[in-house]
Formats: sequence, C-alpha cells, structure tokens
Amino acid sequence: MYLGLGSLLALVIQNLPFYLQDTTTAESRCLDLESTLNIENTTILNVAYVRGDTRVQPQGTCAGEAHVSVSLCRVQYVTHTSARSAIHAEAWLPDEWYGRFLVAGNGGLGGCIPYNLLDYGSSMHFATIAADNGHDGYTAVPFLHNDQVLQDFATRSIHIASLTGKEILRTYYARPHAKSYFLGCSTGGRQGTYSAVHHAENFDGILAGAPGTDWNHLMHWMGMLARAVGAPNASKSASFIPPELWRVVAEEVMAQCDGLDGLEDGMISEPDECGFRPEVLLCGGARGNKECLTPAQVDALRTIYSPLYDAGQLVYPRFDPGSEGVGMPFTGEFPELLSQWFKYGVINATSYDFSTYGPAEGRLMDSINAGGIATWDGNMSAFRDRGGKYLTYHGQADWIVPAGNSKRQYSLVSSTMGLSTPEMDSFYRLFLAPGMAHCLDGPGAWDFGQLGHAEAVTLWQSDLELTMGLRHAAAGNVHTPVRNDSAHNILLALVDWVEGGMAPETITGTGDDGVERAHCRYPAVSMWDEESEEWQCVM
Ligand SMILES: *[C@@H]1O[C@H](CO)[C@@H](O)[C@H](O)[C@H]1NC(C)=O
Ligand SMILES: *[C@@H]1O[C@H](CO)[C@@H](O)[C@H](O)[C@H]1NC(C)=O
Ligand SMILES: *[C@@H]1O[C@H](CO)[C@@H](O)[C@H](O)[C@H]1NC(C)=O
Ligand SMILES: *[C@@H]1O[C@H](CO)[C@@H](O)[C@H](O)[C@H]1NC(C)=O
Ligand SMILES: *[C@@H]1O[C@H](CO)[C@@H](O)[C@H](O)[C@H]1NC(C)=O
Repeated sequence: MYLGLGSLLALVIQNLPFYLQDTTTAESRCLDLESTLNIENTTILNVAYVRGDTRVQPQGTCAGEAHVSVSLCRVQYVTHTSARSAIHAEAWLPDEWYGRFLVAGNGGLGGCIPYNLLDYGSSMHFATIAADNGHDGYTAVPFLHNDQVLQDFATRSIHIASLTGKEILRTYYARPHAKSYFLGCSTGGRQGTYSAVHHAENFDGILAGAPGTDWNHLMHWMGMLARAVGAPNASKSASFIPPELWRVVAEEVMAQCDGLDGLEDGMISEPDECGFRPEVLLCGGARGNKECLTPAQVDALRTIYSPLYDAGQLVYPRFDPGSEGVGMPFTGEFPELLSQWFKYGVINATSYDFSTYGPAEGRLMDSINAGGIATWDGNMSAFRDRGGKYLTYHGQADWIVPAGNSKRQYSLVSSTMGLSTPEMDSFYRLFLAPGMAHCLDGPGAWDFGQLGHAEAVTLWQSDLELTMGLRHAAAGNVHTPVRNDSAHNILLALVDWVEGGMAPETITGTGDDGVERAHCRYPAVSMWDEESEEWQCVM
C-alpha cells in the first residue's frame, strides 16, 4: 500500500490532541481563509470566527437559528455540481481540535443543513462538515425535472462534503486530518451505508443509524401498508382502524408478546419473536362487541405484520409489532414521504392519483431507481480492506423504518462478502435497541449520544416530523446532557474502534426515565435473567 506524506503525518498525530488555544491567532487564521481557500467549483460565501455559546443565523429556510457551543471558525460555502445544481455546506472548525474529521448526514427528503450535528461534532472536537443535500427545504419539489438535484440528494452530497471538508480543514489547521468519520440516521444512515459501499476511501468510521436503505422498496412498503389499512372515508373504510382501536391493538400486542423476553415491561425486545394473532380481537368472539375489530380490520393487521412480497419476491420486512404503541404511521393519509418522492423524483409530475396505488407503482420506482438511490449492495470489501469500521444501530420499536431491514442488510453484506458472524464483527456491528423509535425517542433506553444533546435532539425531531409529515405519539421529553464516554456514547465507541482497535461489545443507552440498558450486538438478543435480575445478551 502506498503511504503518502499526508498519511504518514496522520499516523503520527493520530492520538495527539491538537490545540489552537490562542483565540487571536485562531481568529486571524480563520479570517484568512476567505482569501486562502481555493477549491474547485466552490465559492466561499462567508467566513467568521464564532465564540462559544453564540446563536448564529443558518443558511437556507429550514431552521430559524443555530447554536454554536464552542469557539470555532465557521466557513459557509457552495459547491456547484453542475450548471443546474449546487450543494450548500458549512465547515465548523473548533479551536480545540483532536485531528478528527466528521461529516454529518441529513434526514427525510431534506434539504436541511443539520446544525445540531455541526454543533455536536465540533463540541466533541471534530472538524465537522454538513451540507444541505443539494436543495433547500423539507420537500422533494426541487427534484422536479432536475436529475442533477436528484443526484446530489441520492448519492453526491456526502461525497462532495467529504472532499471539500478535508481540503478546508487542511488549509485551516495546516495539516491533514488523522481519521475521518460519518454520523447520520435515517436518510443519514442510508448516506453512510452508501459511502461504505461506493466511496470506501472517504471515511475510516461510519455511524449509520436506522438506515433507510433499499430506499425504493421502503417507499413502496409505506404505500402498500397505507393502502392496506385505508382511510376513514375512502372505499377502504371497512379496514380503516381509528386511533382509539389502535390503542386496543397495541394492548393486545403487548398481552401476547411482552413476556417473551422474560419481563413484562411494555417493550418487546425482539419483535421477530412475536407471532401476533390479530383474530383474537374479532367482534363477536371472546371480547364480545366492544373495542373489537371487523374481519376487514383484522385482515389489514395481518398484512402490516407480515413481510411485503411482490410476485414471490420479498419487498420489505414487516412492521414491527410493538411499534404501533410508540408511533402511528397509519393515519389514513397517504404517506407524504412516498407521495413527494413518487411525484417529483420518479414520474416528474406535480399531481398523481394515489387512490389506486399498487404493485405497478412499486415496480416503476424500482426500474427508474431515481438518482441511483436504492442503496442495496452488500459489497463493502474495499471499505473493510482499508480498515474501515461500520457501526449501525436500529430501534426495535421503529415505526418508520422497520428494524427487520437492518437484519436483512446484515445478511446481505455477510452473504455478498461470504463472511461468518465473527468475520463480520471485525468491521460491521449492528446494535438493536428495544423500545427505541426511529433514531431517537420511545420507551426504551434510546439515548446513547447518537445525535447529540437534549436541545439538539428536539430540533432534529421537529425536522423529522416536518420532513416525514408524520406525527409522533410520544411527547417531547427532557433529556440529560450527552454522555461523554465510549460505553454510553456510540460516536466515541466508534472512535475507540477505529483508533484503538477496541470494538464495542454492547452500547448502553439511557431512557427518559433515567434507566440504563446495554444493547446487544446482533445476532445476540436481549433476554431478562430472573436470577441476576439483569438483561443479558444471548446468542
Ligand atoms: C467541477 O464541475 C465540473 C462541471 O460541473 C465537473 O466536470 C468537474 O468534475 C468538477 N470538479 C470537481 C473536482 O468536482
Ligand atoms: C469529553 O471528555 C474529554 C476528556 O475526558 C474532554 O476533553 C472533552 O471536552 C469532553 N467533551 C465534551 C463534549 O464534554
Ligand atoms: C375525507 O374526505 C374529505 C372530503 O372529500 C377529504 O377532504 C379528506 O382529505 C378525506 N380524508 C382522508 C383521510 O382521506
Ligand atoms: C422522470 O425524469 C427522469 C429524468 O430526469 C427520467 O429518468 C425518468 O424516467 C422520468 N420518469 C418517467 C416516469 O418517465
Ligand atoms: C467487491 O468489490 C471488490 C472491489 O472493491 C471486487 O474486487 C470484488 O470482486 C467485489 N465482490 C463481489 C462479490 O462483487
């Protein structure tokens, strides 16, 4: 392997904190960047030295203001990816830098620079870059008749951010980064996974939460499930399940499956163990005629709690039983995420009649694979061979992207690369978090430093709601500050793995109630041990 001067330098400084302690020096070096930066296709919009604990004006229309926790140099810039597309980005370069580079990912269909993650990364002493994914705002409208903007969103933005960010930090700190990282969840998880497969050289460590991979199938699954449940006043009304009956369904799911992990605590640790029987809720049966379901409603439940197939081929895993009590996607509205993706990204139209949505639309999405977004390729050989580490987590009560897809992705990678579990463990680890919703929230011990601290998480959550057009069942909660050790902080766990070779065995999360729980590494499952009165990971 060829080791350039940059890599040698990187090896030498890798574990040495690097400080730019003198504020005056930092400020003048920062302002110099305006004239010293010269990056192809890139225009520097603004350079400013920002002192810690300051509120600043964001770019774009997504957020009203952003918080800067630590003193840093802020570079706002735009990279033109074609005559009709551009990526707006920011580099936050902290005075106190530990030689690490971090790119933060996006969410949903946005269009939004994740300022909370810029703040999180820089406060953890990473030179942190984030981009707007090639468009501004929460919607997919900018994709219409512009496949360049679509490509930025689907595959290009993170790659460009990685290249430009490394150049900016090298100019500022007058040395290259030692190690490079990616952090993101949902669409961010997909971006990280795409990077591991297609841009193996960009990152040494990738933290990919609840990845929305196999994107076209995920979209189609959302559509088919929404259709199966129907809408209150549409032709499917017989199958529609109103909110008060979902409460009954959620209770029955718990009655049948809560105890399977050894403890009745309102959480199903392993949803795939739960063979929920919805027919128990049929009217006229054991329950009489109160709070009961019609045969059409029971059929709808059978559909959503089964994997989706098309012509004998698996499309996507099932909706995880136990997540219906955490969040509710089946509101009767056709899913906004799919509706926008389909109109603006796939068929190039501003309107579409989704009342007859079916398999044909799914096949069309597949065949067009707009922007090359699918992200369903299990060959991470190049990434693994250069020492890359892929760390992924998924909530077991994720009602937006089912956790089953992360298991399926694990199988895809292990079968594509021909690897056993111990071989996978050397570079690819999946942690499943019981009772955790999509990326954050839920009754489980969901907080393990995956997205930063309290305020940031709240901001991110409102982004998510706007992006998804979905409502959260759980109310916003107050969270403790981010934990700053690798046992409780998955970003630091990744750093330990990449830089110290210490791979995480478990990840410990904290719940809203303050209770901690160690999450297990797939394929181990979490079981309550009566004797020790503790959760254990069993194979
Ligand atoms: C700069 O943009 C041009 C045209 O859009 C493209 O061909 C070229 O590859 C870009 N350069 C870099 C370094 O991305
Ligand atoms: C985490 O701890 C390290 C040393 O223990 C400290 O240097 C660093 O500033 C802390 N980071 C945060 C975000 O609290
Ligand atoms: C129910 O019908 C009304 C009137 O046609 C319509 O505005 C509304 O969007 C429908 N609701 C759903 C959930 O389809
Ligand atoms: C929509 O436009 C893109 C090019 O921007 C094209 O690849 C795609 O096939 C079009 N969709 C349909 C349904 O024609
Ligand atoms: C995986 O990618 C590598 C190149 O990085 C290639 O040599 C190898 O043949 C690929 N393996 C499979 C199974 O496609």
